[in-house]
Amino acid sequence: MGRGRIRISYFDVVGKALPPLPDHEVGRAIAKLSATYRAGRSDFDFSSEVGRAAYAWHHLPAHMSDLTRLLGDLPELLEGRRSLSVLALGAGPGSEVLALLELISQRKAKGELELLERVEVTRVDHFSAWDQSFARLLSAAREAVGARRCGLGTEWELEAPAQSLRCDLSRAPLSEQVLAAAQGVNLILAMNLVSEVAPRGTEELPAGLAANWEALLQAAPEADALVLDRAGAPGVHERVLEMAERAHALGRGVLGPKTREATCDSVLTKRVKALYRHVKLPTTKHEDRPVKNLKTVWLLC
Ligand SMILES: C[S@@+](CC[C@H](N)C(=O)[O-])C[C@H]1O[C@@H](n2cnc3c(N)ncnc32)[C@H](O)[C@@H]1O
Repeated sequence: MGRGRIRISYFDVVGKALPPLPDHEVGRAIAKLSATYRAGRSDFDFSSEVGRAAYAWHHLPAHMSDLTRLLGDLPELLEGRRSLSVLALGAGPGSEVLALLELISQRKAKGELELLERVEVTRVDHFSAWDQSFARLLSAAREAVGARRCGLGTEWELEAPAQSLRCDLSRAPLSEQVLAAAQGVNLILAMNLVSEVAPRGTEELPAGLAANWEALLQAAPEADALVLDRAGAPGVHERVLEMAERAHALGRGVLGPKTREATCDSVLTKRVKALYRHVKLPTTKHEDRPVKNLKTVWLLC
């Protein structure tokens, strides 16, 4: 097997990163998280270790795969750069950071992206409890990609501070700190944020988020901005379309919104199968398991 082909199951990474918790509690939390999302509510409690673990097992590997594949299809975002600086909005546990680490380590191990020496990601979220989970996930993921002998730490580096910028992106104006962080980045990413910003399920882009989106595009006129979200969530397509229209009105080139389907690339481990024996999801016909298939909508400005 070539060095770039070493496959990592991010369920292993999640299992190594998270503190040991009783399966029946995490299982119950996954069922509750899934029910909360289905009902279009946003009151799931991510302040507890168990709540964050539920998200990490149920969603994170699939979200990572979605972004890894999309970036693979948009090679111009990574090719030909010495450094890449990213502002990740609504980054939570850092699925974006792990996706970049996964994709770049695969390609570096194959001798690609030779120029790239430095990747920096700043996470923005209104909820700082994610920072602890993120630090552990990144450390476990770095260890896993080390097996690829991809030059991480010697030929290139990934810098992603554990501390996120704390900001409620639904309230304008944006903090000076976030605006300053946006200046000079190459890529602004909003993955699974647009569906989450309250009030959930409406077709209008919340006014504060709309103003902040424009402020970020103006603060970083050279940066690409990539939005990726659940196509099936109510109101999301309309919200992303409004982001496209606002970007266009600011003179930006716009690609999308477009829809695509992605499958989680991480194989199920014994650990995750044991955990899902404690999960009961009314939406699945055969077997309860982490999210495998995603239909997503994306936009590049
Ligand atoms: C579905 S999670 C997405 C996490 C990650 N980007 C991913 O795709 O796996 C949504 C994230 O957006 C954050 N979020 C929701 N509303 C927000 C707001 N108004 N301001 C900042 N962050 C927000 C949540 O805390 C959460 O981390």
